[in-house]
Amino acid sequence: MIRLLPLVLAAAAANGQPFLVKPYLQFGDNPADPRKMSVLWHTTDRDGPFAVQWRQGGGKWSRPSPASYHRIAVRSIEPHRVWLAALSGLKPGTAFDYQVLEGGKAVFQATAKTRKSARQPYRFALFGDSGAGTPEQRTIAARVAAAQPDFVFITGDIVYSRGRISEYREKYFPFYESLIASVPVAAAPGNHDIATPDVRGNPDAMGYFHYFNLPLNGPDGVNAPPLEGPEQDRSAVIAASNGKFPRMANYSFDYGNSHWLVIDANRWVDFKDARLRAWIAADLEKSRATWKFAAVHQPGFNSSDAHFNEQRTRLASDLFEAGGVDVVWAGHVHNYQRSFPMRFANASGPDLRGRVSGDWTLDKNFDGVARTRPNGPIYIVSGAGGAGLYDKEQEAKPGSWQPFTYKFLSTTHSFTVADIDGKKLTVRQLDSQGRELDRFVITK
Ligand SMILES: [Fe+2]
Repeated sequence: MIRLLPLVLAAAAANGQPFLVKPYLQFGDNPADPRKMSVLWHTTDRDGPFAVQWRQGGGKWSRPSPASYHRIAVRSIEPHRVWLAALSGLKPGTAFDYQVLEGGKAVFQATAKTRKSARQPYRFALFGDSGAGTPEQRTIAARVAAAQPDFVFITGDIVYSRGRISEYREKYFPFYESLIASVPVAAAPGNHDIATPDVRGNPDAMGYFHYFNLPLNGPDGVNAPPLEGPEQDRSAVIAASNGKFPRMANYSFDYGNSHWLVIDANRWVDFKDARLRAWIAADLEKSRATWKFAAVHQPGFNSSDAHFNEQRTRLASDLFEAGGVDVVWAGHVHNYQRSFPMRFANASGPDLRGRVSGDWTLDKNFDGVARTRPNGPIYIVSGAGGAGLYDKEQEAKPGSWQPFTYKFLSTTHSFTVADIDGKKLTVRQLDSQGRELDRFVITK
């Protein structure tokens, strides 16, 4: 629902294209306040000056908030600027209009959604493994927009294949342009986003850290994405992140009555690390939210032959259970999988292949329809957002699934839509035609 102002856009265009990337919403370094929202956009390396003003309910425009910028200067990409305006004082759970002003003139306008308060119902859409530049990515993006979510969560692999700035410009921003002008997007960083250490060959890698703006409330001193290459390239990447590398690999936030714990699960992450474990436990323990979600890129519980050995995330299951996590969202595996509600004990590993053994207890009484109070977290893989699907033949072969898997859908691209109304959560998996593939309800 974007209303452009053709006349002022034309005026701005006389000075050159106003944006390299049009304005998009982010939570900002703001874990919980529903009255705040950040607006970001990219321009060439020029001064503006830019500001953003907003209005709600047909009221007057606010006083313009001046935008700050951060300059990105990495090898292989023209220096450019990421602009940020932090809005505050918004009324939760409503629409607002905002416009970006350059030199006092409006150059962009959109209608957007504020965050919800803890008492309001809301909807989020979730998908992963999306930024492959495929027709399927485009179709799913359109379906996500049609679902009119209040926010979007990407379970990682935001762009293929190395998380480069050049790839964001080809395979992320053009696909979600109007959606992300209206709703904020958060993400769990995947291997294709932050696991390309070679900044000699990929000097514009780590785009996640440069372009997302999420809470910087992650743990200190845990393993971080490695950077390898000449000192000059490494420091340019770190500088481009504007203080977000590597901190923003882990973070948590609240939306409505849910708490989200987002954990980097890439290969360097050690889920036995005392500092990481203490952070996870404390984060979940101190939350009073009705719903608690964890999000990781690499799933602990996966029935696909693809990535089967990557089981290290299982080592966090005891923390998720103790902390009252309702659903663990993941991607990485390019299909959809839903586990039974489950508990995992006696974890040991990972072995040299990455496998973690242990004992699971499955709640087979939960049916998500009439019996809606699960015993243990439900593990979801929603990684069918655009990249090529994995293990299509397994969908019709339940014998090839692990015992913890209840549903396995690998023959079609899909995404998740979740509705929360107080103590009721309804999760649906929809395909690229909008058809419902799976549904379950959890109640408290
Ligand atoms: Fe991945």
